[in-house]
Amino acid sequence: MHVSDLALDDFRSYEHLVVSLEPGPNAFVGANGQGKTNLLEAIGYLSTLASHRVGADTALVRRARPGTPQPSGAVVRARVVHGQRPSVVEVEIIAGKANRARLNRGQVRPREILGVLRTVVFAPEDLSLVREEPGLRRRFLDDLVVVIKPALAGVRAEHDKILAQRSSLLKAARAASRGSRPPASMMSTLEVWDAQLAAAAARLIAARVDVLDRLRPWIASSYDQVSRGRSRAGVVYRSSLLAHEGLPEPSPGGDDRSAEEAALSDTAATAARLEAAMTDLHHREIERGANLVGAHRDDMSLFLGDLPARGFASHGEQWSLALALRLASYEMLRHDVDAYGGDGEPVLVLDDVFASLDAGRRDALAELVAQAGQVLVSAAVDEDVPAQLRGARFIVSDGEARRA
Ligand SMILES: Nc1ncnc2c1ncn2[C@@H]1O[C@H](COP(=O)(O)OP(=O)(O)O)[C@@H](O)[C@H]1O
Ligand SMILES: [Mg+2]
Repeated sequence: MHVSDLALDDFRSYEHLVVSLEPGPNAFVGANGQGKTNLLEAIGYLSTLASHRVGADTALVRRARPGTPQPSGAVVRARVVHGQRPSVVEVEIIAGKANRARLNRGQVRPREILGVLRTVVFAPEDLSLVREEPGLRRRFLDDLVVVIKPALAGVRAEHDKILAQRSSLLKAARAASRGSRPPASMMSTLEVWDAQLAAAAARLIAARVDVLDRLRPWIASSYDQVSRGRSRAGVVYRSSLLAHEGLPEPSPGGDDRSAEEAALSDTAATAARLEAAMTDLHHREIERGANLVGAHRDDMSLFLGDLPARGFASHGEQWSLALALRLASYEMLRHDVDAYGGDGEPVLVLDDVFASLDAGRRDALAELVAQAGQVLVSAAVDEDVPAQLRGARFIVSDGEARRA
């Protein structure tokens, strides 16, 4: 698929922008702060209804200069060519209120536009996927789970709701127990929540393990290409059950899923293990007032060779690994014919990537993505756009993007 036209109103630094894009490579060139990332962010937002840089949507609405009228919302609209049928998809971001969405001019619920435009965005912020807290890696997996199986968005939401309710109950039990045991009625309510949380978490975990399994060969091959075969990237699902059950920490593994991952894909067995762990942990959970085991405490462990990437890999290696995770998502979605009937190739967005790569890695990446159905890249100067990606070129400056 590709975006053929994009229009922005009051989005970030753009008061009004209309631009036509081409299939294949499109390069956005301009000095820092001119609006390259803003434009790419708008495209990503239309695809996921979330920004890759901020949690709160209020930052997305243009802040007018003092003395000029402040817009109440932003509009992002795109024409997406997917197979034979183009679709026009639009979202209106209203400061402090729910979004409004339109598909082919008809009003729809925002959720209904998800999937019309598929993107994979790589931005410098993705370095945190390798470096930071497990929460970002869980979100990476969960987002892919939902792209592949939209029905699992419901399971994810249900899981989060049960988790919050169980957490409130644990806090209430802590307040009620004060040195002794909490009332029996609270304990029996807790057991009901144990079963519900275990069931929802087990479904989410099985879906994550499945996605990781599909992703694994692409992570290895993407990293191999980006790093020019310097070391091997490995990825293993790390369950919070391991520590509780006294099982060893995951090791780098190989091309196949580990025995532990295979076990986690059995939803009924995982639910039973989680419920047993919660029963053992009740006392500590009440003391802490927090859920201590489950999908929300799991991680995706990343390795380069035999060493964990977090804490051991160099800056350049971490960067290449983060990039490989996004490229792997792209390759997986592009090749996942069952999920999309063969026409689901996402638009690939590479924000400010090439300047940070040495010449060898830059060429390897350019070769890898040159054949993409549509790839949008940004760079501060023309020299940072590899020759393989010379296609449509746009100059971004002062709230405008003009075809050059
Ligand atoms: N909501 C907003 N309203 C107006 N300007 C904004 C808004 N959000 C960001 N900007 C401006 O956009 C510019 C950053 O644009 P960005 O796309 O990140 O630049 P780059 O071309 O370096 O990627 C900054 O000058 C910032 O002040
Ligand atoms: Mg930028």
